[in-house]
Amino acid sequence: MKEQNLEAHFQAKIDAEIKIEPKDWMPDEYRKTLIRQISQHAHSEIVGMLPEGNWITRAPSLRRKLILLAKVQDEAGHGLYLYSAAETLGADRGDLVLQMLNGKAKYSSIFNYPTLNWADIGAIGWLVDGAAITNQVMLTRTSYGPYARAMVRICKEESFHQRQGYEIMLAMSRGSEEQKQMAQDSLNRWWWPSLMMFGPHDGESSHSEQAFKWKIKRKSNDELRQQFVDATIPQAGLLGLTVPDPALRWNAERGHYDFSPINWDEFWNVVKGNGPCNRERIAARQKACDDGAWVREAALAYAEKKEQKQIGARQTAAA
Ligand code: 3HC
Repeated sequence: MKEQNLEAHFQAKIDAEIKIEPKDWMPDEYRKTLIRQISQHAHSEIVGMLPEGNWITRAPSLRRKLILLAKVQDEAGHGLYLYSAAETLGADRGDLVLQMLNGKAKYSSIFNYPTLNWADIGAIGWLVDGAAITNQVMLTRTSYGPYARAMVRICKEESFHQRQGYEIMLAMSRGSEEQKQMAQDSLNRWWWPSLMMFGPHDGESSHSEQAFKWKIKRKSNDELRQQFVDATIPQAGLLGLTVPDPALRWNAERGHYDFSPINWDEFWNVVKGNGPCNRERIAARQKACDDGAWVREAALAYAEKKEQKQIGARQTAAA
């Protein structure tokens, strides 16, 4: 079929809610934007292990340590799962990781903030994983088959992440005055960066229009952000904590909470690499990459040797 017929056939599948699979024809731009989004999603999962990993040895009890260990391990699995989804589009995992290390590919801005105390582990689970779930449930309906299916499994684990975070906040908000203050301070520091996770306003989003046409996105950045705010405010109320936004109020006419404008200068400053922890995060990932080089080399050498052996065996059998 000619290119324009292929495009028309592709769009007809999208419009008919037929999932696009790895072997299907797809526009180069569709492939490119999916590799961009899926790989950045994977980078976010892997870098997201760092702020929480910092507290595994400092957890206040064995139970909290076990839960945090399980969560951080899940995030590693999500990252590997998503790199595999990107590989179904022809991307090379090593190249994707290099793009992140040399700043050519992004990861979520939220992971460039420091975890100062145990309450932050609660706030991350409650707010960061809560925001991630809001976005990822929408992605379970994305048009690319492997990505949609990866999201179904990842969302199941994310809901455990969000609940364990909220339980930490509940314990602290019902604890001593000092613990309640820690929980409030943590909410103050993580609230706005969590709203920024959903990306720029719809009018500033460079990818959304095409993402909607190709049903990569089903809801806009602002719709998901609003959904997250509406769901989270009552939860903060149950904790007896105050969301750090004086303009926050329920707008009965809209049926949503109104909230203050977001500080987009802070967002883009962090995305551009000037957040509190950007350098530390990339340095940690670079060290992990360097320390793991021998494992990759050994695995490649073993695979080559095995391939040689199989070729030899086939030649002997053929002779
Ligand atoms: N941090 C860093 N960059 C961001 C960002 C954020 N929070 N939000 C948007 N951007 C970037 C985009 O990547 C894009 O830059 P690029 O062209 O270089 O990729 C630019 O800002 C414009 O934004 P758009 O809204 O136009 O971009 P998208 O259409 O890709 O929408 C998105 C942004 C909503 C984040 C979308 O990419 C998406 O849904 N990604 C998948 C979900 C994801 O990556 N979540 C990150 C968190 S994962 C997580 O939290 C793990 C959990 O276990 C804790």
